[in-house]
Amino acid sequence: MHFLITAGGTRQYIDPVRFISNASSGKMGYALARAALGVGHKVTLVTVPTAQRPPKGALLFHVETAAEMFETVKAHFARCDCLIMAAAVSDYAPARELKNKIKRTRKSLTIRLEPTVDILKWAGGHKQPGQIIVGFALEDSELQKRAAKKLKEKELDMVIANSCAAIGADRATVYIKAARSGWTEITDAAKSTIAKKIIAEIEKLI
Ligand code: CTP
Repeated sequence: MHFLITAGGTRQYIDPVRFISNASSGKMGYALARAALGVGHKVTLVTVPTAQRPPKGALLFHVETAAEMFETVKAHFARCDCLIMAAAVSDYAPARELKNKIKRTRKSLTIRLEPTVDILKWAGGHKQPGQIIVGFALEDSELQKRAAKKLKEKELDMVIANSCAAIGADRATVYIKAARSGWTEITDAAKSTIAKKIIAEIEKLI
């Protein structure tokens, strides 16, 4: 299979030197890339700058913003068998990116944010027969209920629900659900273990 995987927390620039981002480390996306490569799949990894080592054998594309990630995903989407959106994509971006660095003044500063495109939802709506779309759901409560809603609304084939404690961590507890099956729980496991299980579950959908 050819996997298209996204990783890391996108950066939305306020001015040339400042951005809004999140606590994503990219660990889950990189672990998924390694797990897929490890069992002989082809991997295209679209990544925001992270501290992770590039997985050997993956085709790497470096992006920063949600818009850049969207363009790169769109460019490679048609050739993939499975898209896994493991990236923590910013839901909002500054309405305008200032060309010059903002100077300090004694006045308060307001930054207006506008929604970014939902890449996963776009993919769910544009998938071709045989393509598998996998999303994550990061929730602070009602994990399974909210993740199931995302699975349906974004037309996914599989969703992985995890709590906010998972962001940036080495280990996590996750709940996996394919569109036509029940929930599988993986309790307090290393992200590398979780990634191998996710890839195996995706292979079952073929
Ligand atoms: N996602 C995306 N594009 C966005 C935002 C999120 O593709 N602009 C993807 C993420 O990569 C993840 C999934 O959507 O696979 C769910 O992300 P999450 O932050 O849990 O949910 P949201 O859809 O952003 O909804 P909310 O923040 O309201 O929970």
